[in-house]
Amino acid sequence: MPDTRHPRIPRPRLKGAAATVLLALLLQAGTAWSDTRQEIILPPADRDHLLEHMREFLQASNGVLRGVLDEDMDKVVEMARLTLPMRIRDPEAHDVELTRDHTGRTRPERMQAVMPPHWGSMMRQMRQEFMQIAEDARQGADGTRILQRLHGAQEVCIACHEAFRLTPSEG
Ligand code: HEC
Repeated sequence: MPDTRHPRIPRPRLKGAAATVLLALLLQAGTAWSDTRQEIILPPADRDHLLEHMREFLQASNGVLRGVLDEDMDKVVEMARLTLPMRIRDPEAHDVELTRDHTGRTRPERMQAVMPPHWGSMMRQMRQEFMQIAEDARQGADGTRILQRLHGAQEVCIACHEAFRLTPSEG
């Protein structure tokens, strides 16, 4: 009588490396089809500069959350202010921002020329939420209210991330 305790399980025929390549191709194709974000093309240095601010926004969000958890309203104010434009946060550092490039423009001027109008309005909306968080924290609002505003601010982060992507220009 044949031994049926170990039925032969059919094995996938693809070897590891081939499977990885196939998966990579599928993922890449998936991205190309589903990425409907508007592309904003920027000089690499300006893109880096924006991404640096983005990382600060993430720190600000998480810092506000930490402040609420610790019931430390000074921290909430400090972290919310991290989302303010440099010219308000640190006027001296802003002098660097005003350096003109070979076309005679400053970074804010260069950026204003390429960023879509909707970009500016979302940025303002997000900052307004954070400024309101700072104001609430100064007035000793309760944590839940601050978290609600933080949630509102993060909805703007999400909406903008769904709308745009930043591509470095050549050269
Ligand atoms: C006005 C639009 C806009 C807003 C508002 C915005 N972001 Fe972004 N963010 C972007 C875009 C566009 C990118 C680049 C995405 C890409 O190119 O794939 C980005 C990238 C990032 C990155 C990646 C940084 C890196 O080094 O690559 C982080 C982190 C980030 N955002 C966090 C946030 C957080 C947190 C908020 C809200 C508190 C926020 N952003 C608000 C548009 C926005």
